[in-house]
Amino acid sequence: MGGGAFADRGGGSRVGKGLAGGVVRCVIGAMELDFSALAPREAYRWMIGTILPRPIAWVATISADGRTNLAPFSFFQGITANPPTLMFVPVNKRDGTPKDTLRNLREVPEFVVNLVSFDLGEKMNASSAELPHGESEFAAFGIEAAPSTRVRPPRVAAAPVAFECTVHSIVLIGEGPLAANVVFGRILNAHVRNDVLDAAGRPDPAKLDLIGRLGGNSYARTTERFELERP
Ligand SMILES: Cc1cc2nc3c(=O)[nH]c(=O)nc-3n(C[C@H](O)[C@H](O)[C@H](O)COP(=O)(O)O)c2cc1C
Repeated sequence: MGGGAFADRGGGSRVGKGLAGGVVRCVIGAMELDFSALAPREAYRWMIGTILPRPIAWVATISADGRTNLAPFSFFQGITANPPTLMFVPVNKRDGTPKDTLRNLREVPEFVVNLVSFDLGEKMNASSAELPHGESEFAAFGIEAAPSTRVRPPRVAAAPVAFECTVHSIVLIGEGPLAANVVFGRILNAHVRNDVLDAAGRPDPAKLDLIGRLGGNSYARTTERFELERP
């Protein structure tokens, strides 16, 4: 990771200019990064290297003329159950243009969020390749599609869970390269594979075996966990 850090020599604080133009301040035992001055790509590296693990939305969309698209997004979260809503964020490409997922959503405001189990990791990663607009990752990477019930884009047949959604709104934050298009989606329908449920019919994290994104090329699994009683 860059950030222009220089060694913390243990006494007082020093102020320096980061490699990418961000101001970095070293104090005892820590480093302070002035995010208001960091270059976007540098801020991105620090954010994805620290805000983790991030769940992965493997998002299927479709264009007006019926061409499917599939891509992973780890700026992703469920945000409320009333009404059931989630969000994910296709950021603009480095040249400032929108990704295929966003282009499709502007034509057909429906999508499917497929969750990614460990066994689907390699195909999920392959589908993050930038294919020419209109070329389907389902076909390119041999990912089997299954029809959705309430929306036009198909779902990933092998996904343990798939949420069928309609676009609630798209909020733009920033402009140009890496700027965010926050897609809020209303969940209409879900498919949950029987074999990921426990005896009580609830999702079992070990059986789901989902992966979460860490920094760089690293991932975590949900198979290792612990319990905390709520106060
Ligand atoms: C695990 C993983 C998580 C990703 N998360 C995001 C994300 O949150 N936002 C984003 O814009 N791109 C993200 N990407 C990169 C996109 O998947 C990639 O740009 C893809 O080509 C976009 O596809 P599209 O142009 O078909 O929409 C991620 C890639 C991987 C492998």
